[in-house]
Amino acid sequence: MRFDVITLFPAQFKALTQEGVVARALRRGIAEIHLRTPRDYTADPQRAVDDRPYGGGPGMVMQYAPLRAALDAARADAAAAGVSSRVAYLSPQGAPVDQAKIVEIASASGWVLLAGRYEGVDERLIEDAVDEEWSIGDYVLSGGELAAMVVMDAAIRLLPGVLGHADSAGQDSYASGLLDCPHYTRPETAAGRGVPSVLLSGDHAAIERWRLQQALGRTWERRPELLRKRGMNDVERQLLDDYRREALRSGSRAGSKPSEQ
Ligand SMILES: C[S@@+](CC[C@H](N)C(=O)[O-])C[C@H]1O[C@@H](n2cnc3c(N)ncnc32)[C@H](O)[C@@H]1O
Repeated sequence: MRFDVITLFPAQFKALTQEGVVARALRRGIAEIHLRTPRDYTADPQRAVDDRPYGGGPGMVMQYAPLRAALDAARADAAAAGVSSRVAYLSPQGAPVDQAKIVEIASASGWVLLAGRYEGVDERLIEDAVDEEWSIGDYVLSGGELAAMVVMDAAIRLLPGVLGHADSAGQDSYASGLLDCPHYTRPETAAGRGVPSVLLSGDHAAIERWRLQQALGRTWERRPELLRKRGMNDVERQLLDDYRREALRSGSRAGSKPSEQ
């Protein structure tokens, strides 16, 4: 899979490309990230790519021409490598990116990502050259670089061969519409607290059942709307009922947290 990113700050992407899961995927050739700056596509002697907004007001706006030239060059390079890329602009006004969208993004062969700065980009560029607008949350960042990195990290880790264990991504939060279950590792006792005994039992079916029950319980406690959207089968409903009964019995806050569904 190939990402081409248009950014004024290519160095920021070292955070993604030099260490960790994504860096390993790049080294193995499973994914490619190509960075280019619109400053290389302006005739301005100062290499400026922004100007004051028409109508006045604070801030600057990224100009059409250098961004358009950079986007066209990125798409042409990708096409020359046999990759047909759509263009996505990272924007707080875009469609919210959730895990289902990440799966869709990861299934494409390539994307050109446009990271904005200042007040954003000239609207005509969005109308002419952008296929999709993506938001990573209802807050405003200083630039689209972090947003582009968030999306690329989430997508690249889903590509076959990237994660160590084939099932890792499938068990993560959201993969099955639920939050992930709690995890424990050595030592068996930490700060006087033990590990749920089922995890030490060696009974794989019981462990799977417990994990599913915890995932259902957590989702019900923390994100009940996800559970309503996903629905449950009879076995899962029973597991959640037992979880809630136990939570009430043990007096944990979890027993009374969300509204009944
Ligand atoms: C300061 S913001 C511009 C915000 C813009 N004036 C608005 O209110 O919609 C600069 C750039 O950061 C990026 N950005 C900010 N928040 C974002 C978010 N929640 N998701 C994705 N990109 C974001 C966009 O690329 C945007 O062009």
